[in-house]
Amino acid sequence: MRGRLLAIPLAAAALVAAGCGGEETTGLDGASRSNGRELFVPTCGSCHTLAEAGTAGTVGPNLDEALGYPCKQGFAEDTIYSVVLGQIDLAQGTMPADLVTGQDAVDVAAYVASVAGKDIEGCEPSGGGGGGTTTAAATTETSG
Ligand code: HEC
Repeated sequence: MRGRLLAIPLAAAALVAAGCGGEETTGLDGASRSNGRELFVPTCGSCHTLAEAGTAGTVGPNLDEALGYPCKQGFAEDTIYSVVLGQIDLAQGTMPADLVTGQDAVDVAAYVASVAGKDIEGCEPSGGGGGGTTTAAATTETSG
């Protein structure tokens, strides 16, 4: 099973990273995860389970599982971000492509990458390095 999940999406992600998108976006660093969450729930949640978003769709894979295991294997958040963005853009299989585009797609991908599978033991967001175990910043700001 190892590696199977990521094989195709990573190829897709490479295309996105190469700049096929056209539109200017902030990329992962400037993405609005709160906007991503707001878009994810109605746009993706009907088909995908994602614990943090509170969605329970079963048409597509459970994203906590699909993306949590790669996370546990040590893929960085920006890699998972690229996978999600690639899937949104090119949509393998039966998932509709371009449900969100441009900055919205970036925001959704950044949101998903930041929360997917975080309940899975061993999946630690954003690398961090050595030390602090008390920085699980799970608070959601009410912005905007
Ligand atoms: C109409 C249902 C549907 C909607 C809406 C949908 N998806 Fe999907 N998604 C799927 C299906 C089905 C798959 C599995 C694709 C396949 O391999 O056939 C999938 C696969 C994925 C994957 C790859 C998971 C893996 O195993 O690597 C990601 C990531 C993903 N979707 C994210 C999203 C995001 C983000 C959105 C919202 C912008 C979204 N999906 C909206 C049905 C949907």
